[in-house]
Amino acid sequence: MTIRVCLAGATGWAGSALSRGIFAAPDMELVAGISRSQAGKVLGDVLGVEGFAAPIFATIAEGLETKPDVVVEYTKPDVAKANTLSALRGGAHVVVGTSGLGEGDYREIDQVAQEARRGVLAVGNFALTAVLLQKFAEIAARYIPHWEIIDYAHAGKVDAPSGTARELAERLSRVRESQLDVPLETMQGPKESRGVRLNGSQVHSVRLPGYVISVDAIFGMPDQKLVIRHESGTSAEPYVSGALLAIRKVSGLVGVHRGLDRVMEF
Ligand SMILES: NC(=O)c1ccc[n+]([C@@H]2O[C@H](COP(=O)([O-])OP(=O)(O)OC[C@H]3O[C@@H](n4cnc5c(N)ncnc54)[C@H](OP(=O)(O)O)[C@@H]3O)[C@@H](O)[C@H]2O)c1
Repeated sequence: MTIRVCLAGATGWAGSALSRGIFAAPDMELVAGISRSQAGKVLGDVLGVEGFAAPIFATIAEGLETKPDVVVEYTKPDVAKANTLSALRGGAHVVVGTSGLGEGDYREIDQVAQEARRGVLAVGNFALTAVLLQKFAEIAARYIPHWEIIDYAHAGKVDAPSGTARELAERLSRVRESQLDVPLETMQGPKESRGVRLNGSQVHSVRLPGYVISVDAIFGMPDQKLVIRHESGTSAEPYVSGALLAIRKVSGLVGVHRGLDRVMEF
C-alpha cells in the first residue's frame, strides 16, 4: 500500500530534504506540498528534481483536498497547531516535526485526535543520535537526581526551548523531577539566570551564530558528572530517515505520542 503524504513546509530547510526522501521512498507518494511563496508550482521545479510532479498549495485546506493518509507538519510554531488540528479533522494522521508547541497545545491536539481516532506522532528531533540521547538520559535520571538541560541553536531560531529540549524535559519528568538544592524561591539574583523550570528540569537555551542544533543533558553527582550530548551538522539529512519511519508508523497510533522511540524497537 502506498502512503499518501501531504508535507506542510515542503520547500523549507528541513522540508525540502524530506520531500526528496519521500520522492525516493517506494512505499510513499507526496500528493501535496504546502508553501505560500511557491504555491502553484510543482516540487520538482522548485527542488530541481526531475519527474517530481507533486503540486504545491498555499494552505493546508487545499492540501487536504488531495486526501492524504498522513500530513507532516514542518512549518513554523505559530501555524503548526492550526495545521495539525485541520489535518486531524480532515481525516489524516499527523507527524509533527515543527518545534515550539507546548504541553497545553498537545493536550488540545490529543483531544481532537482521540475523537477522530487518528494518531499524532510529535518528534522534537528525528536524528538517531538525538533519539538515543533521550533514551540514555532517561536511564541516567533513574540513578542521578541532579541534572540540567542546555539547548543550543542558531541565532535566528524563533522558538525556545528547542523541541528536542522540551521533549527531553517531558520524558525525564516521567522518571522524576530534577533536584534543586537551592529552591528558585530562595535563590539570590535574577531567577532567569537559572533558566526555565520545565516539567521538573532546569532548561537553558543558547542562540548564537555558529550553532545548528545541539543539546546537552548534564547529570551531576558529588565529584563526578555525566554529559550526554547530541550535535547535528549543517545539513537536514539526519532528520530524513527518522521522519520516514514516523510516516510509516503513525497510522498505527491513536492520540498524541511524543518521541520517535515510541515506534522503534530497543
Ligand atoms: N523534528 C526535527 O527533527 C526537526 C528538524 C529540523 C527542523 N525542525 C523544526 O521544523 C520547523 C521548520 O524548520 P525549517 O528550518 O525547515 O524552517 P524553514 O526553512 O523556514 O521552512 C519553513 C517551511 O514552512 C513553510 N511555511 C511557513 N509558514 C507557513 C504558513 N503560514 N503556511 C504554509 N507554509 C508555511 C515555508 O514556506 P513559505 O514561507 O513559502 O510559506 C517553508 O516551506 C521548525 O520549527 C524547526 O525547529 C524540526
